[in-house]
Amino acid sequence: MVSNEVNQYIEKIIPARSEQVLKIEQYAKLHNVPIMELTGMETLLSYVRLKKPKRILEVGTAIGYSAIRMALACQTAEIISIERDEERYNIAKENVESFHLENRITLLFGDANELQKQVENYAPYDFIFIDAAKGQYQNFFDHYSSMLSPDGIIVTDNVLFRGYVAEESGLESRRLRSLVKKIRSFNEYIMQHPDYQSSILPVGDGMMVSIRNS
Ligand SMILES: C[S@@+](CC[C@H](N)C(=O)[O-])C[C@H]1O[C@@H](n2cnc3c(N)ncnc32)[C@H](O)[C@@H]1O
Repeated sequence: MVSNEVNQYIEKIIPARSEQVLKIEQYAKLHNVPIMELTGMETLLSYVRLKKPKRILEVGTAIGYSAIRMALACQTAEIISIERDEERYNIAKENVESFHLENRITLLFGDANELQKQVENYAPYDFIFIDAAKGQYQNFFDHYSSMLSPDGIIVTDNVLFRGYVAEESGLESRRLRSLVKKIRSFNEYIMQHPDYQSSILPVGDGMMVSIRNS
């Protein structure tokens, strides 16, 4: 991962966001809502702009920040986004409405492990963004990768988990060790997957970009 100094430098020269976008960033900071780090967000948006997906599936809405930013970056994209926390889901709804994006962003309330049928109604997706519980990435991939179109892209956030995945020892709690083990196993699985060409970018909390072979 890049050093704090380099990260701060990049953040400093990222173009200013609108007042309305800044308001969501500030809310997230104030209320400890884990939204994407700025450098990771900008990288994700570059892939969205390049790919120009017709339909995006997002696993992990939180308060709608990344869904809104993707919708603003690609005016033709439709986004289906899943969130299981009711309070966050309701705030996401308000935020989406405040941007008048409710016709392009559909929010689904529930656990992404149980919503395959509903999500399938909108398939196929040419872009899937996984940004929910890190210990369940393999499940999310198993549930939804079959809904990806040929040539589609899956971006998975937090795959370096603050650098812990590279640590040989020193992971103190058993819970942390177990989580790191799951992320490592997911990373190795995807990197070796015969149907995808994948790379890990050390931006934000680590981002895996997987392009499906057509
Ligand atoms: C890192 S936040 C998402 C941030 C959002 N993508 C952004 O950058 O604006 C992860 C969210 O995923 C939700 N989540 C975690 N596991 C989930 C699951 N199994 N199904 C649905 N949502 C889940 C959490 O409640 C949390 O709000």
